[in-house]
Amino acid sequence: MNLNRWTPYKFSNSKTAKNRVVVPAMASQTANEHGFVTDKTIEHYSRLGESQAGIIFVEYSYVHASGKSESHQLGVYADQQLSGLSKIAQTLHHGGALAGFQIVHAGGKTDRKMTGQSLLGASAVSVPVKDWTPEVPTEMSIEDIGAYIQWYVEAAKRAYAAGFDLVELHAAHGYGLNQWLSPITNHRRDEFGGSLENRLKLLVKIIHSIKTSVPGILISVRIPGQDHFPGGLSLQDMQRAVMTFEQAGVDLINVSSGIGGWRRPEGRSGEGYLVKDAAVIKQATSLPVIGVGGIVSGIAIDQMLLEEKLDFAAVGRAILEDPKDWSLKQLSPNRWEAAV
Ligand SMILES: Cc1cc2nc3c(=O)[nH]c(=O)nc-3n(C[C@H](O)[C@H](O)[C@H](O)COP(=O)(O)O)c2cc1C
Repeated sequence: MNLNRWTPYKFSNSKTAKNRVVVPAMASQTANEHGFVTDKTIEHYSRLGESQAGIIFVEYSYVHASGKSESHQLGVYADQQLSGLSKIAQTLHHGGALAGFQIVHAGGKTDRKMTGQSLLGASAVSVPVKDWTPEVPTEMSIEDIGAYIQWYVEAAKRAYAAGFDLVELHAAHGYGLNQWLSPITNHRRDEFGGSLENRLKLLVKIIHSIKTSVPGILISVRIPGQDHFPGGLSLQDMQRAVMTFEQAGVDLINVSSGIGGWRRPEGRSGEGYLVKDAAVIKQATSLPVIGVGGIVSGIAIDQMLLEEKLDFAAVGRAILEDPKDWSLKQLSPNRWEAAV
């Protein structure tokens, strides 16, 4: 079949993305200080809906107050948030997109002023962040881990109840789940640390628990193709990780970057600067794979699909800037060259 960006994709539960363009999760800072949806949030997603993308992901939303990382971040930690979240799902469906919802716990990549509580990490290791040094988190106990899994499950239940088609576990960009996967931040000596298999265990438990409790929702995992940080997760580690996720019943893999953050890593340039990593990950799985990084043109997406580097292309900043006409603008592939 001659794939291009207009080719629909049918998931195992028959939900269909009408094309191969994805709007990735992008924090809008439009929630109120308790993480509730505001009118601005709805306006924002209504605008993104004009992109006509096949899947639109709602920004990273915190599953518990201890994992909040920005003051106007969206939250999904309480049932009272459901009515606002339902309005976003309706808005996205109205534009014809599948509605995705990204859930996160920041782990050690936040501070106590933001959360009002102590930081919870895989290990007592400060998370490497480019322009600041987070304080050392408290290593989570086995009881903490039980609660942590439950926060994710409750958040996925809420996403489903609000009408979302997919829930996305944010395991990239140095946030909580990335910290469990990465040898840089996971130094545990119990069954959740050490080997890659052990470091994957928490994520696998979350996936299994969501599948059991919310069987109707599709699960995406946003992963680092690699940490892009010395001593961090490698492409080979993440190939093994996606095999595990596929076995656990995940539906979609979204390949971004890791501990170094989402911005362009040193040494990468041009349109699709992280797609090279997505292509390597794709070789290890039969699941559909999303690639990302400075994608600004429909022609480039068609080419990446043809070369089987990805199954979906995520277009972030170009769509944010001009949801309706981004693909007609012929933006320079080097538009977002500044590496951070
Ligand atoms: C304003 C802004 C907010 C972002 N927030 C998130 C987020 O909530 N979750 C996430 O996984 N990535 C987030 N990202 C990263 C994007 O999803 C995407 O990976 C990145 O912008 C690179 O894609 P692009 O070159 O097409 O913009 C954000 C990016 C931007 C510009």
